[in-house]
Amino acid sequence: MLDKIKALQQELENATASSQDDVELLRIKYISKKGSINQLFSDFKNVPGDQKKEVGKAINDLKNFALEKINSLRDSFESKTAETSGADLTRPGEPLRLGTRHPLSLVKNKIIRIFGRLGFTVAEGPEIEDDWHVFSALNFPPEHPARDMQDTFFIEKDPDILLRTHTSSVQIRVMENQQPPIRAIFPGRVFRNEAISARSHCIFHQVEGLYVDENVSFADLKQTLLYFAKELFGEDTQIRLRPSYFPFTEPSAEMDVSCSICGGEGCNVCKYTGWLEILGCGMVDPNVLESCRIDSQKYSGFAFGMGIERITMLLYGIKDIRHFFENDVHFLKQFGPAV
Ligand code: PHE
Repeated sequence: MLDKIKALQQELENATASSQDDVELLRIKYISKKGSINQLFSDFKNVPGDQKKEVGKAINDLKNFALEKINSLRDSFESKTAETSGADLTRPGEPLRLGTRHPLSLVKNKIIRIFGRLGFTVAEGPEIEDDWHVFSALNFPPEHPARDMQDTFFIEKDPDILLRTHTSSVQIRVMENQQPPIRAIFPGRVFRNEAISARSHCIFHQVEGLYVDENVSFADLKQTLLYFAKELFGEDTQIRLRPSYFPFTEPSAEMDVSCSICGGEGCNVCKYTGWLEILGCGMVDPNVLESCRIDSQKYSGFAFGMGIERITMLLYGIKDIRHFFENDVHFLKQFGPAV
């Protein structure tokens, strides 16, 4: 009997398996109900009493050895199948795809950073406004056409509540709440009752700027805007101020920059003039300062306002303003990573 046990032990020690099926065959052969080790337990009753202790221990040891051996062979196949199943366990996880910033946000942030370097802070105001902040405090006469239904979206039929047509309303809110010195820019969304086309939309964005202090002059306005234009469009950019009219500034001007596409030579973007109009500006009208209880004898200021869509179209060569609002990812993802 002991010889038989030794022989089985030897067999098990040498046993190998090349598949999980082989392991199963070993299990059946040695440790199943009809396997050879169980057979030994059946034969045990015939072992003479004085040998029972030794033989019993030997069978138990053999059984434990067989269990361990078969389990370890099975484990080796289980880990091997994970390795060979085609799944590359060393692969890094799925990358998280980052979105990209909307081009209007990229340009808005750029404008904020440029003015930030000149000490301008950022303020915002409501999109649903009243007549006072959008028109009256800004020196619009009662019969001004901008107040017309054709240009302005009103809320319900209350002519006093409307969607702001420009961010100049935020000038008033800031000046009502703060005495000079004031140096801030106001980015935001504005609304005009206009037909939608490649060049204009009923919703767009502006950045307004305001600087009020003692002795602020037109030269300060010009130098500030020159710095801004060079930072945004490049060091070689020149500016040109043309006389214009806004109810809330006097004198008023429109600013052109030398065409960033052709460098002033003339091309179809600048309509062969070499210049691109990008903003309106002027010295804050004393009536506006007085509307906000700021002493116009003591203080003066300048203001400017620009459309973010227009500047973004110029910077990126975008030909249709409607792209900004369609949210087509093919368009949006061209504008680089989120910054
Ligand atoms: N609010 C003017 C517009 O919407 C722009 C502007 C702002 C002009 C400030 C002068 C000063 O066209």
